[in-house]
Amino acid sequence: MDVHSTRQAESDRHPIEPPSRPPEKVVVLVAIGLVLLCVLWALRKDEAPQGPPVAMGSAQAMALSPEKIPLTTGEEPIGDIFIRAGCPVCHVIPGIPGAEGQVGPKLILGTTGTQRLSDPAYRGQARTIHDYVVESVLEPERFIVPGYPGRTMPSWYGSKLSGLALKKIAAYLEQQTDSGSAH
Ligand code: HEC
Repeated sequence: MDVHSTRQAESDRHPIEPPSRPPEKVVVLVAIGLVLLCVLWALRKDEAPQGPPVAMGSAQAMALSPEKIPLTTGEEPIGDIFIRAGCPVCHVIPGIPGAEGQVGPKLILGTTGTQRLSDPAYRGQARTIHDYVVESVLEPERFIVPGYPGRTMPSWYGSKLSGLALKKIAAYLEQQTDSGSAH
């Protein structure tokens, strides 16, 4: 055995390996970490816009299917129209008992209606708050209120609510303000 050559081999290995390996590992780990972060971020972004923000509301909202909603003629009292249609599940509506839903915005169009119509992102046809309410119920996708989920408000109310019911809904909601019911 040649002592000299063993030492030689050791001294060959030492100066080269220790400084080169650890940085390589660190780079690989950092790269894996970055990839994972990107994946997590992408998943998070995918999930965020789906579904309403409140878990309980969303479960109830899922249970709202057109077969379960009766036809509304508009002859019913306004409170019954809202309740039969299931609006209180998702909305706070001043003056309607139990309308405490948090999935959609509080329906105080007397306060918020002008804001919606003047929103640069608004692409609907309505020129009055009354028409904006009718449009929001018949074609919710026309304008998604900022901060609320799209594809959440049912889009089939046109087949459940008569013209009279829609008119009564709009007449009621356009009078509701932040400071309380106008009725
Ligand atoms: C499953 C939940 C859900 C139900 C049920 C529901 N909505 Fe909505 N509604 C929403 C969400 C979410 C928004 C906000 C997103 C958007 O603009 O579509 C909204 C928006 C609205 C707006 C626009 C409000 C604003 O501030 O500009 C009106 C008006 C409205 N809904 C009325 C109704 C009426 C009337 C009913 C019952 C006939 C009803 N909604 C039933 C979820 C619901």
